[in-house]
Amino acid sequence: MTRVFSGIKPTGHLTLGNYLGAVRRWAGEDQHRSDALFCVVDLHALTVDHDPARVRRLSRQAASLLLAAGLDPELCTVFVQSHVDEHARLSYVLECVATDGEMRRMIQYKEKAARERERGGSVRLSLLTYPVLMAADILAYGTDDVPVGNDQTQHVELARDLAVRFNQRYGHTFVVPRATSPAVAARVMNLQEPVSKMGKSDDVGPGIVYLLDEPDVVRKKVMRAVTDSGREVVYDRKERPGPANLLEILAACTGGEPAELAGAYDSYGALKKDTAEAVVEVLRPVRERHQELCADPGYVEGVLREGARKARAMARPTVDAAYRAIGLLPPA
Ligand code: TYM
Repeated sequence: MTRVFSGIKPTGHLTLGNYLGAVRRWAGEDQHRSDALFCVVDLHALTVDHDPARVRRLSRQAASLLLAAGLDPELCTVFVQSHVDEHARLSYVLECVATDGEMRRMIQYKEKAARERERGGSVRLSLLTYPVLMAADILAYGTDDVPVGNDQTQHVELARDLAVRFNQRYGHTFVVPRATSPAVAARVMNLQEPVSKMGKSDDVGPGIVYLLDEPDVVRKKVMRAVTDSGREVVYDRKERPGPANLLEILAACTGGEPAELAGAYDSYGALKKDTAEAVVEVLRPVRERHQELCADPGYVEGVLREGARKARAMARPTVDAAYRAIGLLPPA
């Protein structure tokens, strides 16, 4: 059976981008058709300036939202990264296989490091080694498929490269994974800045739809989305990013094709209205279920405890094998 692994970082409230690009697929075909693990990657949240209490709160919230979105602990394993030591154990060994040049070439590192420096802050070493920890997350479980949005494909490529390099040098140890992205909404853009990704830790709040936004807030944000001065509604990601983003969101929510949907509209107003309603409907069950889960924190804790137990048992043999292969003496 195909092994699937993916993760989400508790650095902000989950967005429509996270949902359409990743989480919705996890809750749909991924957990049904494969042996899947989904992880709240809290260690990754420490790579930038953070408030410890906020990271804890967001980790709980992310786990609860994954369950609210439909992840079923009977079908898949849901857990928190720091509860399973194997991630950090394997990350160190993979650092001994990766090069600093590879790390410095990562687009997300370059962007995030530049942002930290602009703010006058310093860049944490863990931001540079972030993709190695992510490779460890993936490789520890013998993962075949990694369902992610487009922004993560370079990181998954690195995980592939490290797996191949390790296997060639030290003997076959890791499955070589691949990224899978959705056909539409693989990169949902900020509604106010449709040339930038809708990111949960960004500052342009009015352009970000959060999974827990009230319906009226969602409507307001979508109705105020930036479009352009064109008269016709056409789907052109490069030249007309604002309308293209709305068409992709609408297509992802209703199951249509962005280019075909464009033909059905003669004004941006109508397109925005339908998109807003489609988003409200897609998010409604997630919000409702989340509210129920908030009333039952013991349930979420229990799921995470059991998830960590299962994940540990799955990761351990591969990580032990990697330790032996690279030359570490097994404990007596
Ligand atoms: P993160 O937390 O930024 O995002 C979680 C998932 O949501 C997708 N995503 C988007 N998809 C479409 N449009 C958007 N605007 C958008 N924003 C986010 C991401 O591509 C991702 O699939 N480094 C990862 C977390 C991670 C991970 C892993 C993922 C750590 N270890 C191992 C997979 C496997 C991250 O920061 O995702």
